Amino acid sequence: MLGVAFYPEHWPEERFPTDLGMMVEARVKLVRMGEFSWTRMEPREGEFNFSWLLHYIRELNSKGIRSVIGTPTASPPPWAIRSYPDILPVDFNGIRPRFGTRRQYCPNNPNYRRLSERIARELARAVSEEEGVVGFQVDNELSLGWNYCYCDHCVRGFREYLRSKYGTLGDLNEKWGTVFWGHEYNDWEEIHPPSYPYDYYNRGLALDWVRFRSSSMLDYLRLQVEVIREEAPGKFITTNLMGLYPELDYYSLGREVDFPSTDVYPKYRVDYYDPSWIAMIYDATRCMGKGDFWVMEMQAGPTDGGHGTGIGASPEPGEMRKWFYQALAHGSSANLFFNWRTSPRGKEQFWHGVLNHDGLPNRRYEELKQIGREVEALGEELKGYSIGASVALLFSYESMWTSDVVEGGYYPMTYYEVIRTAYRGLWREGIPVDVVGPASDLSKYSTVLAPFLYLCGETLLRKLRDFVTRGGKLILTARSLIKDDYNRVATGAQLEDFWSLTGVRVEDYTKLPANVEYAEVDFPQMRVRVRWWIEALSPLNDARVIATHSFREFKGKPAAASRGGVTVFGFFPPEEVYAQTVKGEERWGVGDQEVEVVKGEVKGKWVLFLINHSSSLKRLEVDLKGREWYSILSRREFKGRTQVELGPHSVEVMKSI
Ligand code: GAL
Ligand code: ZN
Repeated sequence: MLGVAFYPEHWPEERFPTDLGMMVEARVKLVRMGEFSWTRMEPREGEFNFSWLLHYIRELNSKGIRSVIGTPTASPPPWAIRSYPDILPVDFNGIRPRFGTRRQYCPNNPNYRRLSERIARELARAVSEEEGVVGFQVDNELSLGWNYCYCDHCVRGFREYLRSKYGTLGDLNEKWGTVFWGHEYNDWEEIHPPSYPYDYYNRGLALDWVRFRSSSMLDYLRLQVEVIREEAPGKFITTNLMGLYPELDYYSLGREVDFPSTDVYPKYRVDYYDPSWIAMIYDATRCMGKGDFWVMEMQAGPTDGGHGTGIGASPEPGEMRKWFYQALAHGSSANLFFNWRTSPRGKEQFWHGVLNHDGLPNRRYEELKQIGREVEALGEELKGYSIGASVALLFSYESMWTSDVVEGGYYPMTYYEVIRTAYRGLWREGIPVDVVGPASDLSKYSTVLAPFLYLCGETLLRKLRDFVTRGGKLILTARSLIKDDYNRVATGAQLEDFWSLTGVRVEDYTKLPANVEYAEVDFPQMRVRVRWWIEALSPLNDARVIATHSFREFKGKPAAASRGGVTVFGFFPPEEVYAQTVKGEERWGVGDQEVEVVKGEVKGKWVLFLINHSSSLKRLEVDLKGREWYSILSRREFKGRTQVELGPHSVEVMKSI
């Protein structure tokens, strides 16, 4: 489905028929409304008004355009802050900033929770009977910023969280290792959250604080989800995420909603972007839920500045359409461009929508029309589309929190960089992949890649062990299985437990000094250049050495080993090595890194998306693996090895016969 974010309250009523007409002409089928309009829904505390919203919902619906309704809590109204100033989040020094922008609320504040629950309830009740309303978006891009919130509710909440997790202070002291620096606690009241950046604090304390912040936000989300479910059963509930944003554990969040949605601005902060990063976000978002996801906001024009970033470059002709198809290819079932028309007022004056400020048709609107036409025809063909990957890439929020957030950049590489490298290795070969969280069911995969699995709790360890026992292939890299659930470096029995999975002991390691660009690792058939970090492995039991180091004192030492289904690299493999480790998996790549190939299935038929991510014409040789195909876009037929021409930013979508 094609959609747009729409803010009818920003425009005079007389304009609405024009917008509606233009949307209908572009075959827009969905709008999202309401998510920043609290002062229109509840102009003063307890005075509700949804008539304006109902009016737009009904008018749109009469033309076949359905609505997703956002709860407006991402931006507390001025009256709420005036009556309950404690809604504002507090920084580490106890300072409450003034009101003035959005997202200024503490998720643990009882006043805000009460107001949020009520507006969500009133809103859901007001629109629950509307045929035009398909579902709800809770809040908007839930987040808090690492510098917040340290209000009394949060600090008290943190202590309660710890108390229910550890039960006794003795246990907490032991698990956190508070004997270090003589920080053993005698009373729960003695515990304070760490300030950001967290690297000067106890590792157990810091990680639990990050977990608590995430679970506070999820708890706040749940508050709204519950009332909406009560008031509007039968309508879906989602919320819009920001890719793999670090503050909230999105894999846990995915289980709270009917399906997750994400926002994607490929050209925000950059003029050129890596399309595999966007692909990875989709493959991850899909796995945060049960398989379905939406793109709730998709870039529709130049982005505006802010945070020291300048205004963005406009999407080239064809790019919006290409973004739309890329999301479909990865399993999204609706994409909404942000937004319909660029706002002349407020903060986001140059965050461009489809229409410019003047509201007249332009080339981006023409492109929207093209998408609308095509999608109407495509919809049926792609109904029930799924990816069916047999390779999984594990994304562990806890490993990322531990390395990138708590330690705050100890390593020459970040968790994200490592995961992105692994993903890109598979992506450029066209290997279908699911980017999964630690709680997901691994049994359906033949291979699991878990690079930089820095923290591995007991449950995950057991799961990985089961996976391997049942014949799965597991790929680990350097800096894997270092920490336990409490962010302690494993020693003793715990370490032996890790070894029994990996089959190797890490004997020695070093980061590569700044003036060493790469170290070399030798496999029997190839020499590989590795960056960042190396480890000398010592194989235990029957593990087999499959590569050796050549760097300095590591020379001749085992650099990779394998035992049963487990392969451990004592380094961070470059892209191509990841692709080689998943030998035997289907691959659809066409040997051009600017062309993305995504393969999925619809009712036993194969579907192939070919996406040209460059500004030049591509002539490709595509191996169609013996099947006969037709283009869903042009109806042209293909078979065998075939030549396909793709214009700049252009796409081809084929289905097997
Ligand atoms: C998104 C946000 C929208 C809007 C958009 C453009 O991140 O959800 O509300 O702000 O960016 O700035
Ligand atoms: Zn707070």
